[in-house]
Amino acid sequence: MSDPIPAAAALLSTLTDRAPEGVWSAPGRVNLIGEHTDYNEGFVLPFAIGHRTAAAVALRDDDLVRVVSDFADEPVDVSLADLDDAIERGGLDWAAYPLGVAWALRAAAGHGAARGVDIAIASDVPVGAGLSSSAAIESSVASALNDVWDAGLDRVALARIGRIAENDAVGAPTGIMDQMASMLGRADAATFLDCRSLETASVDLGFGAAGLEILVIDTLVKHAHSSGGYRERRASCEAGAAALGVPWLRDVAVADLDRARDLLDDETFRRVRHIVTENQRVLDTVEALRTDGPRAIGELLTASHVSMRDDFEISVAELDLAVETALAAGAIGARMTGGGFGGAAIALLPADRIEDAASAVAHAFATAGYTAPHTFTVTPSEGARRDA
Ligand code: GLA
Repeated sequence: MSDPIPAAAALLSTLTDRAPEGVWSAPGRVNLIGEHTDYNEGFVLPFAIGHRTAAAVALRDDDLVRVVSDFADEPVDVSLADLDDAIERGGLDWAAYPLGVAWALRAAAGHGAARGVDIAIASDVPVGAGLSSSAAIESSVASALNDVWDAGLDRVALARIGRIAENDAVGAPTGIMDQMASMLGRADAATFLDCRSLETASVDLGFGAAGLEILVIDTLVKHAHSSGGYRERRASCEAGAAALGVPWLRDVAVADLDRARDLLDDETFRRVRHIVTENQRVLDTVEALRTDGPRAIGELLTASHVSMRDDFEISVAELDLAVETALAAGAIGARMTGGGFGGAAIALLPADRIEDAASAVAHAFATAGYTAPHTFTVTPSEGARRDA
C-alpha cells in the first residue's frame, strides 16, 4: 500500500488548485491489554502502530467543509452553516468521522475559528481489523483542523474531540482509549492511561531489545461497534455497577468479586469479573514491563484472552484459533485486541518465530475452512504529528 502522506497530498490536488496548508497524520493502535475497561473508567495499555492515516488540508474561499478519501468514490461536502443539522440528520456514512471532528472541534474552539476547508484523507490502517482505523481518521483530522483553525487545543483535548465525533456523529458508544493512543503514542512505548483522570504515562516496551515482535492476525471477520454486542456489553457493565452500588466498575476490586457473585446473575457477574480482573491485569502488565521487561507479560496477555472468551464472551472461533495456534507456535502470549466480535488477534513472539507462526496460523485457518487471515507485524510508533 502506498505511503498515506504523499497519497493524501496527491488526492488533495485532485480536489483543489489551492496550495495545501499542510499534511497531518495519526496512527492506528494495537491494544496490548485492557479491553472494554475504558468506558468503565478503568485502565488500558495501547500502543500506536506504524500504519497511519494522513489528512491533507487546503483552505477554501467559501464556508464548505469538503472531505474526500481513498476509501470512497465521491467527495462529501457540508457548509459550516449547515454542519450542526447535518450531524443531527446523520446518514453521512464514512464522512461522519471527519465531519464529526470538524463539528466537535468547532464547538470546542468557538464558531468564529472555523473556516471552509478541503480535506483529503489517505490511509494504510486496515479497516475493520480492530486496529482503530476510525481513531486514526479522527486524530489526523483533529490535528489538522486544530492548526488550520488556530484552535490551540492540546492532545488530550483533541482525543476528546475524536471521541465526541465517534459517539455523537458516528453513533458508536466507545470509550476514549483509541483516540488517546493515536494522539499520544511514542516509538517503542505503550500509553498507560487511567480512563478516569485521563492521566497517562509512557511505558517502555523494549520489544526490539528483547528480540520480540508483535504479530497481528487479522481474521477478516468484520465487526461494527455502533451496533450489537459492543453496546450490549456496555449496558451489562452499567447494570453490574448499578447493582453493586458503584458509579463505575473501576470502583470494584478483585477482592470484592465474592460479594459480587452473590448479588449478580451469572452472566452479569462474568461480565463484571472480566472488567475487574482486566483492570488488575493492566496494572500487573505495567509493573512487569517496568521491572522485568516484555518477556514477563506473556501470561497476562493470554489470561486476558481467556477472560474475554469465557467471561465477557466477545471472542469468535477465528480469534480463538489464531490465539491457540500462535501459542502453540511459540508465542509468549496472545490475545484478541480491540472491541471483539471479529477483527484481529495479537501474538508476542520471538522475532525468529514470526514466519513460522504466521504460516501455522494460515495452515490452521485453511484446515478449519476459514477465510485466509492477513498477518503482519506492527511496531510501537509515534502518535499524531504534522508531516508537511
Ligand atoms: C473499541 C472502542 C474502545 C474500547 C475497545 C475495547 O476499540 O473504540 O473505546 O472500548 O473497543 O477495549
